[in-house]
Amino acid sequence: MNDIADGELAATFEESFRRSEALRARLATHPSRYRVLTGDRPTGGLHIGHYFGSLKTRLELQALGVETYVVIADYQVLTDRDSVERVPDHVRELVLDYLAVGLDPEHSSTSIFCHSHVPALNQLLVPFLTLVGMGELERNPTVKEEIAAAGLTHVSAAMYAYPVHQAADILFCKGNVVPVGKDQLPHLELTRKIARRFNQRFCDANSPVFPEPAALLSSAPKILGVDGGQKMSKSRNNAIELRATADETAGLIKRAKTDAERHIAYDPAGRPEVANLVLLTALCTGEPPDTVATQIGDGGSALLKKTLTEALNELLAPIRARRAELAGDAKEVLRRTLEAGTASANTAADATLAQVRDAMQMNYGL
Ligand code: TRP
Repeated sequence: MNDIADGELAATFEESFRRSEALRARLATHPSRYRVLTGDRPTGGLHIGHYFGSLKTRLELQALGVETYVVIADYQVLTDRDSVERVPDHVRELVLDYLAVGLDPEHSSTSIFCHSHVPALNQLLVPFLTLVGMGELERNPTVKEEIAAAGLTHVSAAMYAYPVHQAADILFCKGNVVPVGKDQLPHLELTRKIARRFNQRFCDANSPVFPEPAALLSSAPKILGVDGGQKMSKSRNNAIELRATADETAGLIKRAKTDAERHIAYDPAGRPEVANLVLLTALCTGEPPDTVATQIGDGGSALLKKTLTEALNELLAPIRARRAELAGDAKEVLRRTLEAGTASANTAADATLAQVRDAMQMNYGL
């Protein structure tokens, strides 16, 4: 990429971040104006990167009373894996993680569902695909990276089309806020285009069917894995999972990469491995990273690791206890959660599809 394009990207990111902060403020003052759509692929248990990056935001939105749909994107797994064998296990782990951290469909307006079980959502894909050009799909930088990273034996058309599916995930319930990481911004931009193009092509100017959803960017800085070199992710084998035991957590932190310098300072650019452990400690305790680093100072990486282990295990103890309790009745918990979430997703999707058919003049008086 040349310098000009880099500069432009940075400028658009800053702009997105500024808009996102303004949105964060409005969500707090006018929660009922917003409907949030967010979700994950069922590819394994969630880890502390998810906790600090996205789950905490979801809990804040839930506490504000914002209506939230959480999609478990099971069909998306078909696009980037050679096998779907373990999807049922992963869906179960995901639901247990959601409930353990405090998402609470029974006492709030949070719905959890798998998009494979919402037919009208998937049907939006057909008109949406007609609103997007092949070139747009091929240029999507996140899709390109995922293709390069996935090591697939073949790349299916669904891999290129999944951002369009994601637009259906968001627009079926007329979600107008989508909490995302930076890598998902191209997808959200495409969703906005699809909403705009649908409205322009099929609707009267004063009665659009779809909102143009806005990104709510995570305010947590990027969390690296315990190898210190790359983003925390299960597939990179460098994650601390929420469901790990206290001993497993201690073991992972013990083996985490640091550096040869004894004195601990917070220097993300110069000493990324140490900075990541300082940051995680700070996220657990709520102190600024610099304060954590100063307190540890000459205690070195041994004291840093001990401090982080204790802080993280303390933070996760109630979550893990709750998770174990839920796991004891996993089948029933899963059924109850998905039954309610699927029903409310289907109600929303059916209503939207009816409007879409109307707009496309395909209702034939039926
Ligand atoms: N693509 C997202 C991921 O890989 C998961 C996802 C599917 C999603 N549909 C979504 C996220 C809609 C936000 C909105 O993690």
